[in-house]
Amino acid sequence: MDFIKVDQGKCTKCGTCVAICPGVIGMRETGPQAIRNLCISCGQCVTVCPEGALDNKNSPLDRQVPIVEDSVLNSDIVAQFLRSRRSIRNYQLKGVSRDKIVQLLDIARMAPTACNSQGIAYYIVDNPDTLQQISATVIEWTASELKNSPVMAASKYAPHTAMMVEQYRQRSEDVVLRSAPCLIIAVTNKDSFATGRDNTYIAFSYLQLFATSLGLGTCWAGLFEYCAASGYEPLIKLLNIPINMQVTSGMMVGYPKHTYHRLVERNPLQVTWQYC
Ligand SMILES: Cc1cc2nc3c(=O)[nH]c(=O)nc-3n(C[C@H](O)[C@H](O)[C@H](O)COP(=O)(O)O)c2cc1C
Repeated sequence: MDFIKVDQGKCTKCGTCVAICPGVIGMRETGPQAIRNLCISCGQCVTVCPEGALDNKNSPLDRQVPIVEDSVLNSDIVAQFLRSRRSIRNYQLKGVSRDKIVQLLDIARMAPTACNSQGIAYYIVDNPDTLQQISATVIEWTASELKNSPVMAASKYAPHTAMMVEQYRQRSEDVVLRSAPCLIIAVTNKDSFATGRDNTYIAFSYLQLFATSLGLGTCWAGLFEYCAASGYEPLIKLLNIPINMQVTSGMMVGYPKHTYHRLVERNPLQVTWQYC
């Protein structure tokens, strides 16, 4: 258990690292020390040390970035920023540079994951022909589900879904990927699919929010995800994803065509203070 290293010259034995990770780090006469081999590499112990005295092999000090105090944002600005994210269903024709996509994913990978499992890999499609083929394939699956699946037919969204199929078939509207120039596909190991999907949803939420700060718009590709999750062979074949991996979700990305001028209202907040 030598993953924790302490610079004795800097350590004041303040105990913050122990408080932040009590099961794994303990305080000894000589200072903090690993007491269990259950480190999940979250790096909290390293980033919280006020003296920069603690290092952890699993999340090394030299890979941490100092936080600049003045970068803490005003809450009104943050609230407006969070509320102004919308699902974008109309995109400009211009493509998104691969650098920008990497920038987005670099923030998505900072999102919380169960037990710091991370484990999401991304496949990017920015080829217009492939994007069109994906949409066409998803529509085939959707139409067949509407016809043959009692679960789909009973869904309260069935009429909406049927309308989408009609829009695609009659008016050539890309209701699946909204003619976005790029689709980000998140995948995870099949044997950790449930956790991987939860992790993906949170990572994609980070990505969606960060995208707005780069002038980009995004939209969850729900139909695509449901089709992929069903294991629909024509789609799986088209995506060419390793056999041991499973799609957890998809996110459209592009430059929004329209500007929003108001913040939307939602259902009233439902909150109950229990046992008062
Ligand atoms: C899991 C999930 C799947 C979604 N799938 C789709 C989709 O397939 N197509 C679409 O246009 N919007 C999709 N959306 C966007 C929702 O319709 C949208 O978030 C909701 O209407 C609220 O609007 P806003 O995101 O603009 O605030 C999805 C959202 C989530 C969270």
